[in-house]
Amino acid sequence: MKNFTKTFLIVVAMLLSGCSDDNNDAMAQNTMTQKMYITIDGVSQSVTLYDNAATQALVAKLQDGAVTVTLNSSGGFEIWGPLGFSLPTSNEQITAQPGDVILYNGSNICLMYGTNSWSYTRLGKIDGLSASELETFLKAGQSNISVTLSLTPSSIPSNNNTLVVYYSYTGNCREIVQTLTSQIQADVVEIQTVAENQDYNANGYQLGQDLLDAINANPECVDSYPPIKPVLRDAENYENIIFVTPLWHSQMAAPAQTYLFINREKLAGKKFGMIVSSWSSGISTVVANANRLVPDVQWMGESLWINHNNHANRATLIENWLEDIHYEDISTIVRIISSDQKNSGEIYNLNGQRVINPSHGIYIKNGKKVIL
Ligand SMILES: Cc1cc2nc3c(=O)[nH]c(=O)nc-3n(C[C@H](O)[C@H](O)[C@H](O)COP(=O)(O)O)c2cc1C
Repeated sequence: MKNFTKTFLIVVAMLLSGCSDDNNDAMAQNTMTQKMYITIDGVSQSVTLYDNAATQALVAKLQDGAVTVTLNSSGGFEIWGPLGFSLPTSNEQITAQPGDVILYNGSNICLMYGTNSWSYTRLGKIDGLSASELETFLKAGQSNISVTLSLTPSSIPSNNNTLVVYYSYTGNCREIVQTLTSQIQADVVEIQTVAENQDYNANGYQLGQDLLDAINANPECVDSYPPIKPVLRDAENYENIIFVTPLWHSQMAAPAQTYLFINREKLAGKKFGMIVSSWSSGISTVVANANRLVPDVQWMGESLWINHNNHANRATLIENWLEDIHYEDISTIVRIISSDQKNSGEIYNLNGQRVINPSHGIYIKNGKKVIL
């Protein structure tokens, strides 16, 4: 009995310490009600702030107005860069986790999409994004990322009338989405299966085949589709949907089919464009799948097929496809550029921010889209 009691107490102690990591403990005890917002490419995400001298000084600074910083990817786990001002530090050795917002050396901000142990001052945590959603939102791997910190959501998120929805198992569709969202302004959601760590490549891709067989056996029953996690953004709130899916066994990947099936009613009437990534197979059956799953969408035009041979050339393929389908984010962009600016000859990026020295890409000049 003694042994039982001891074991019981140890288990309870382990459970208590294991239920929440240090990170969440610190967060639960010591946060501000004031949220901060991080906006990248017109997409705002809220940040729960710790309550410490650094965040108090940061909030005071942001009360004077939003701050835009340029951050760069580093180490495969963060985007970081100088704030342009210093904050009081309370450094401690911590293992920063995906989503953590960190002050480094008193005057640099780090936004984590991976983990790293260092002596840092915690600022806060980005709310509610999975590790892969963080990678997309933070533009993991990219340089010169313009990041705005503010106390209210960006004034332009309503500008996003396009939602990019994608599923990716081996990362190709994720790369396609990263390229796409460097060319258009859109919100992004990733479809993720409830079942984690599935090996769809095993046994000659048998599991993927089994999932598709189950759908095809009874396509009108929701139980035939592999369950997916809820997504952060509701398709109902957008006019345009760009759907990016891998091809499996010449068909639409099963989890992508789940999304369309369960959102059929919300998607009815929306403008709908599709990009399909395959190794080599053509995409006509994937298009047929989409027509079955969301029969009431208005197609923007023909779907774009990106295969293994031309994946590296996707920036040009996407740019041409956007031209072909007359994808116009412009009407929205023009709204945020005042009429004075509209005919000024000044150049704006797709976020409506003025650009002095534009590099190659799509811009707005005199209210019209131009490719430089
Ligand atoms: C289960 C499964 C089945 C696949 N079947 C095909 C196929 O029939 N033809 C083909 O060209 N590629 C096939 N592929 C390859 C994927 O379409 C291709 O690698 C795609 O780029 C994957 O996108 P992702 O990296 O975003 O998951 C298959 C991949 C998986 C996982």
